[in-house]
Amino acid sequence: MSLLLAEENEIDGLTQIELLGACSLLLFAGHDTTASLLGSATVALCRDPDARTAFTSLEGDDLDTAVEELLRFEAPAKAMMRTVVEDHDHAGVEMREGQSVFLNILAANRDDRVFDAPDDIVLDRNPNPHLTFGFGHHFCLGAALARLEAKATLSSLFQRFPNLQLDGDPTWRPTISDRSPKSIPLTW
Ligand code: HEM
Repeated sequence: MSLLLAEENEIDGLTQIELLGACSLLLFAGHDTTASLLGSATVALCRDPDARTAFTSLEGDDLDTAVEELLRFEAPAKAMMRTVVEDHDHAGVEMREGQSVFLNILAANRDDRVFDAPDDIVLDRNPNPHLTFGFGHHFCLGAALARLEAKATLSSLFQRFPNLQLDGDPTWRPTISDRSPKSIPLTW
């Protein structure tokens, strides 16, 4: 954001509204999603004590693989939004120009034609072709950073508090776009 806001960018031709758009994209895409993942993954591991115990001792490639599974199991962005540019049929569904389409990431990540036992946390699941960071041209710019943050934070949290448990039901933010805990009562 500092680079975007540097004076030279005005010479490159970014208007103020474009700068605002880019900064708010980075802020919400970069912060909210990762914060949601840390919360949702914590809830998921607390609800599955075997997975929680196994997760606590993972490191290196095994930890990378486990974080990938938590990303699949609790995707923070519920959907990708697209606009249909021309009439066509897709898998038997009529798509008409101008319609808005919600591509549901949560459903794709639990597709039993792709994932065995999709509703279970399988910490060594590999391959794991989840769509949590999107797909194609607009694949998440910050995926590497989000993975790093999740790895560092979740492993530190569960190593420091190996008996972390839910102390009541979490509450969830009522939004159509994010899967995001509002509060997580915990005890250790
Ligand atoms: C767990 C954390 C994250 C999740 C689940 C996530 C998810 C996504 C998804 C699904 C998309 C594709 C949207 C689409 O195709 O319509 C996307 C794009 C994007 N993400 Fe992330 N993201 C995360 C973290 C981050 C971070 C840390 C940053 C930046 C620091 C970031 C920046 C962006 C940007 C700039 C785009 C737009 C890319 C483009 O349109 O070419 N994201 N993200």
